[in-house]
Amino acid sequence: MKIAVLPGDGIGPEIVAQAVRVLQAIGPKFDLEEAPVGGAAYDVAGHPLPPATLELAKKADAILFGAVGDWKYDTLARELRPEQAILGLRKHLELFANFRPAICYPELTAASSLKPEIIGGLDILIVRELNGDIYFGQPRGIRTSELPLFKGAREGFDTMHYSEPEVERIGHVAFQAARKRGKKVCSVDKANVLETSQLWREVMIRISKEYPDVELSHMYVDNAAMQLVKAPKAFDVVVTGNLFGDILSDEAAMLTGSIGMLPSASLDKNNKGLYEPSHGSAPDIAGKGIANPLATILSAAMMLRYSLGMPAEADRIEKAVQKVLAQGLRTADIYTEGTKKVSTIEMGDAVVAALS
Ligand code: IPM
Ligand code: MG
Repeated sequence: MKIAVLPGDGIGPEIVAQAVRVLQAIGPKFDLEEAPVGGAAYDVAGHPLPPATLELAKKADAILFGAVGDWKYDTLARELRPEQAILGLRKHLELFANFRPAICYPELTAASSLKPEIIGGLDILIVRELNGDIYFGQPRGIRTSELPLFKGAREGFDTMHYSEPEVERIGHVAFQAARKRGKKVCSVDKANVLETSQLWREVMIRISKEYPDVELSHMYVDNAAMQLVKAPKAFDVVVTGNLFGDILSDEAAMLTGSIGMLPSASLDKNNKGLYEPSHGSAPDIAGKGIANPLATILSAAMMLRYSLGMPAEADRIEKAVQKVLAQGLRTADIYTEGTKKVSTIEMGDAVVAALS
């Protein structure tokens, strides 16, 4: 099985290296092929998603992705910025279904800024649509305003839209995921203001009829942002569009106190997927050897489960991660008094050792 390994920028290479070690230690021989992506690719090939990298991603069975982005690329034209690499991969490979679990590990309850009783045992899943919405909507651009009050001024504009089939396919993914969990779907929208959301809600209600065993509720995105900090455990699966999902998934991740722990999967309709940590490239700590590799290691576990049909091996990795947490090993981001602070590589060593 061929895995495309795209480390990217910032801490990407350090954390991906540890996930690769875990994959190599798990047993079966994977065909791992690395390619540059993001700013690193811009530096060597003049583009954040060079054709060769895209080709590799297309022919691989799954993609292990680190992170992209660095301040030093902030002045580049938008189509050359590192973020275009991940947006391009999602779009070209039709990875429309993004799974972002937010799980609070019992050992890490103290790392959260919320009270233990609010987040202890938290296990929610955000299903974010990844191919549509204002992220990709046309027209977009910067033009001259025609508004009477601001006529002649420069104006930025973007377009939000969702077609019915786009909402249906992400809706089915969410309902099917809920069936395997707590059997609740909360669809998040802004139907009191946006037509896009009004249609989204109609479609969700319609397809929910095919899932009588799953309870569907609806929430406006502002309220959802509030409920996530007030009573996050009331959620099971949250399904939402690209933009709202981007924002809410960061919020949900941080509830657990440890964004460095959370994996994610972005799947196409055949379950081919790209797997990446939920956190970013953290250029401020890049190269220091202190980044937490666990989100990437857990993303590799998700890859084995969702794309490569190897659930037993996925379990083994997840158990190994729980074991190192139970041993009290912590990278700086999840360190609390009384635990043992370790480096990125030491954490990788510990997970590999815990596999056996
Ligand atoms: C994410 C990131 C990306 C997004 C950026 C890097 C384009 O924030 O994966 O959540 O907005 O989707
Ligand atoms: Mg984001």
